[in-house]
Amino acid sequence: MAYTLTVNGTTHEVDLPGEVPLLWVLRDQLNLTGTKYGCGVASCGACTVQVDGQAQRSCVLRLEDVDGEVTTIEGLGQPDTLHALQQAWIDHQVPQCGYCQSGQIMQAASLLAELPSPSDEDIDNAMAGNLCRCGTYPRIRAAIKSVAEGV
Ligand code: FES
Ligand code: FES
Repeated sequence: MAYTLTVNGTTHEVDLPGEVPLLWVLRDQLNLTGTKYGCGVASCGACTVQVDGQAQRSCVLRLEDVDGEVTTIEGLGQPDTLHALQQAWIDHQVPQCGYCQSGQIMQAASLLAELPSPSDEDIDNAMAGNLCRCGTYPRIRAAIKSVAEGV
């Protein structure tokens, strides 16, 4: 069955079984490989994308259940301009191996869209499901705060 999917402002017809996770549609069909596979069971956050601005785990979101416009890390900024969080990630030298970081940024962007001035507790709560085995958590928090504070 064909599904119509809007990703990063572009509409696609995707002819795949409805139970296929969005993650594999993005990576294997649309060649958007910035979204990563970590656990496959909604426990690590590596696969985080946004659906209508809400952070979602694409590894467990079935194609047939996608209800809204999808944004991935490739579409978060403008074509010629990084999103403020992407720039902050560079400025704060957040990534180590980098594997978790697109998910971290997508989760953080969803947080700031909802709460432009989050407290430390808000940040910790929002980011708690995004794991980083390299331990970049302090820099992630600093980068998010810098954007929130407009620094
Ligand atoms: S791969 Fe989706 S949460 Fe881990
Ligand atoms: S930067 Fe390596 S897992 Fe997060």
